[in-house]
Amino acid sequence: MAALKFHVLILAFWATLLIPCSSLGDSGLKKRHAALYVFGDSLFDPGNNNYISTTNDYKADWSPYGETFFKYPTGRFCDGRLIPDFIAEYAKLPIVPAFYPRIVDYTYGVNFASGGAGALNETHKGFVIPLNYQLHNFKNMEKHLRHNLGDAKTYTLLSNAVYLISIGGNDYFAPFATNCSFFETHSQEEYVGIVIGNLTNVIKEIYNNGGRKFGFTKLPPLGLVPSQRPGNKGTCVKEVTSLANIHNAVLPKHLEKLKSKLQGFKYSIAKLDTYLTERINKPSKYGFKEGKSACCGSGPYGGIYSCGGKRGVTKYQLCANVSEYVFFDSFHPTERVYQQLSMLWWNQVPNTKEPYSNLKELFEV
Ligand SMILES: *[C@@H]1O[C@H](CO)[C@@H](O)[C@H](O)[C@H]1NC(C)=O
Ligand SMILES: *[C@@H]1O[C@H](CO)[C@@H](O)[C@H](O)[C@H]1NC(C)=O
Ligand SMILES: *[C@@H]1O[C@H](CO)[C@@H](O)[C@H](O)[C@H]1NC(C)=O
Ligand SMILES: *[C@@H]1O[C@H](CO)[C@@H](O)[C@H](O)[C@H]1NC(C)=O
Repeated sequence: MAALKFHVLILAFWATLLIPCSSLGDSGLKKRHAALYVFGDSLFDPGNNNYISTTNDYKADWSPYGETFFKYPTGRFCDGRLIPDFIAEYAKLPIVPAFYPRIVDYTYGVNFASGGAGALNETHKGFVIPLNYQLHNFKNMEKHLRHNLGDAKTYTLLSNAVYLISIGGNDYFAPFATNCSFFETHSQEEYVGIVIGNLTNVIKEIYNNGGRKFGFTKLPPLGLVPSQRPGNKGTCVKEVTSLANIHNAVLPKHLEKLKSKLQGFKYSIAKLDTYLTERINKPSKYGFKEGKSACCGSGPYGGIYSCGGKRGVTKYQLCANVSEYVFFDSFHPTERVYQQLSMLWWNQVPNTKEPYSNLKELFEV
């Protein structure tokens, strides 16, 4: 038995050597498939922040993060998998790797997301990879692909691919880092316009590189996360809720406009706002016991961002059964919630009022 395995291994080894060198790294083009490229914040970051110079506020690479599925911390801000991990699975792709530290094969997808990142360069500047810089990394990847595959194949790959983007939440939290008075002197509508303007630039750049199929998430209910619950310091619930509502109302209208301008542009929106609000307010309807408090954290509702004890506050509580919780830490949902949301997004039924394709349709090549 052992000897047989050994022979099979040798054969496999020789088989790879027979493939022309150019396709050794980026080898995924033998089969038709839609790759998955991911941009955004901690909702999607699979561990890119492990490789940048930052503080533990923007990292999650210690236990108990990752315990449910991976059994070790990956840098994901969750007990297990995130939405892009589930979407890759449903699309029959390998799990999409982080851009950092270095990958060999870009042809099934890459995840550029960074915890704490925003659409604005100023958001958590110096501690995260802003959306604009994620785009810069994407363009470098594109150059690498063209070098290996040639222009035509690269264009085909990138135009068949699906692009998932989760961004904005941090842009709306960041101005309140010191106090709630920022929007006494700034217009909320204008600020949202600037955030969506920067997101639009990134969409257009991806489009210019061939990208046609996009998936966007609406913002989660930012005022309902455990860190914003009463008794926690430095919360600006009213302001953050209002900004998220404006963003979520403007984004779909804006995307419809973009669709009429950019030929072949297709998109789907995940309604994280309603999906999550329903689970927070009626956890038992969706198989959860606790909708408001974090499984991992300290203080009222587990709202102090101390999960794992590595962010200054060393004491924290961890719940006994993470499957009962909607929130894993003070800001981020549990894997079980992400799984439910991913399934909804994948199969979402389009209606005439909201004619967005579901993600499954976008992956059809
Ligand atoms: C944001 O930063 C990128 C570099 O990462 C730069 O190219 C771009 O011009 C900046 N954009 C704005 C609006 O400041
Ligand atoms: C709150 O922050 C603003 C800047 O956004 C500053 O001008 C103001 O002095 C601060 N107020 C207090 C009470 O710290
Ligand atoms: C992008 O953000 C910057 C601030 O970082 C702002 O000055 C600029 O106007 C924004 N761009 C658009 C198109 O809204
Ligand atoms: C954990 O909670 C889930 C959901 O309520 C339940 O199905 C499971 O049996 C629980 N596991 C344990 C070990 O109690």
